[in-house]
Amino acid sequence: MNRWTRVLAVLAPAAVILALAPAPQAEQHPYYGTKKCKNCHLKEYKSWAETKMAHAFDTLKPGEAADIKKAAGLDPAKDYTKDATCLRCHTTGHGAEGGFVDFETTPDMAGVGCESCHGAGGTYTKPEYMSLKNKEYKKADVVAAGLVGEVGKAQCITCHNKDNPTAKADYVFDYEANKAKGLHETFPLKYHHE
Ligand code: HEC
Ligand code: HEC
Ligand code: HEC
Ligand code: HEC
Repeated sequence: MNRWTRVLAVLAPAAVILALAPAPQAEQHPYYGTKKCKNCHLKEYKSWAETKMAHAFDTLKPGEAADIKKAAGLDPAKDYTKDATCLRCHTTGHGAEGGFVDFETTPDMAGVGCESCHGAGGTYTKPEYMSLKNKEYKKADVVAAGLVGEVGKAQCITCHNKDNPTAKADYVFDYEANKAKGLHETFPLKYHHE
């Protein structure tokens, strides 16, 4: 081995280790809270509160939606409000920082809240991003801070899939049909964000 091949022999394994190291994870932002989004988005909040998803937590209580539970092989008399297998889709951010813990601790995160679709808001709601001081934030900046750029099917199917125990074996999620019947009203934005 000459000097250079010796150097290479030492460096090569290091290069392999570097290549195998996992790519840095996308940053996990903390959850913020539906009631705090409401402070600035009252119209969307009021409309959202009328959707079935806003009340998804109540469905887990004993006696609620008894026929559907029975048909799915679930026990209609059982209290599922502390059952982690259900909470992941019937609450907001279960198990994540700022997300749903239990109804006593985090009542605001019960049900499918704003951040289930728009992304965990602990960072993008800071004053330098989306705020009353900065109404003309740049869209790219809030997206880099965790806002979902455009909510679509990709967000829905994290919950609307066959892991839902009430879904039939041949379940397929129809985005347009569900969007038409299930989402809050939207209103044109007032400010520039380009
Ligand atoms: C965090 C999980 C989650 C996400 C994300 C989610 N959903 Fe849901 N959705 C639910 C749950 C749970 C219910 C059942 C609510 C209940 O308990 O009645 C539901 C119910 C619905 C319903 C009512 C169905 C009916 O029978 O009337 C519609 C419509 C719907 N969702 C559409 C959507 C669309 C469209 C998206 C994406 C833009 C979406 N959902 C994203 C969990 C989610
Ligand atoms: C993978 C996500 C997911 C999991 C896990 C999940 N659900 Fe759901 N659940 C949904 C979605 C999505 C719907 C709405 C389906 C639709 O109508 O399109 C729903 C609907 C329901 C409904 C019918 C509500 C109604 O009135 O129409 C009941 C009851 C229900 N879930 C109970 C449970 C229970 C109990 C558990 C835990 C044992 C559970 N779910 C776990 C996603 C989930
Ligand atoms: C089930 C998914 C879902 C939930 C839950 C949800 N949104 Fe949305 N939201 C959407 C979709 C889809 C759009 C339209 C597409 C887009 O702009 O990404 C939208 C658009 C918006 C917009 C921009 C348009 C407008 O009306 O100004 C705001 C603001 C907004 N949502 C706020 C909220 C707030 C606040 C909550 C909670 C109270 C909430 N959303 C809950 C799916 C959701
Ligand atoms: C302190 C006020 C404030 C809070 C709190 C707040 N927002 Fe906003 N948000 C704004 C303003 C201002 C705009 C720009 C409105 C416009 O242009 O008309 C906006 C715009 C948006 C948009 C449109 C994004 C775009 O540019 O396409 C969405 C979606 C949204 N907010 C969701 C949320 C959610 C979800 C929360 C809670 C996690 C939240 N907001 C909390 C002030 C706020």
